[in-house]
Amino acid sequence: AIQRTFSIIKPDATKRNLTGKIVAKFEEAGLRVVASKRIQLTLAQAQAFYGVHKDRPFFGELCEYMISEPVVVQVLEGENAIAKNREVMGATNPADAAEGTIRKEFALSVGENSVHGSDAPETAAEEIAFFFSGIELVG
Ligand code: CMP
Repeated sequence: AIQRTFSIIKPDATKRNLTGKIVAKFEEAGLRVVASKRIQLTLAQAQAFYGVHKDRPFFGELCEYMISEPVVVQVLEGENAIAKNREVMGATNPADAAEGTIRKEFALSVGENSVHGSDAPETAAEEIAFFFSGIELVG
């Protein structure tokens, strides 16, 4: 089925001017950018977005990193968009990521891993609604 998923191009990638190369990977896989904006997250926004990880040892480091440079938040649409996006991203830790994936090619470490993508339909809906209003989604 056609799905939408939520994607973040993270600070390590925006800093190295990799936004276009990353979007090209998504587009080549058949995903369409139906919403996109470059934003500077506040600490409160980063903490709220990653609230599910608040008890993890890396939570503080993760939030500080996510506000260290601008990010590009996007909604990607396509057939099985959630799984397809995860396939194109590759494993969370670039050391485990498959050849040709975004994280294999661009990520620096498990923290500075260039992209975020939703892991399930419910989280995709929540994450999209966190950053975008309905009129910003143009399919
Ligand atoms: P993401 O998909 O954005 O969701 C949570 C993030 O936490 C994950 O990507 C990683 O970038 C980050 N993360 C996971 N494990 C670690 C870790 N051990 N140290 C720092 N960051 C981590």
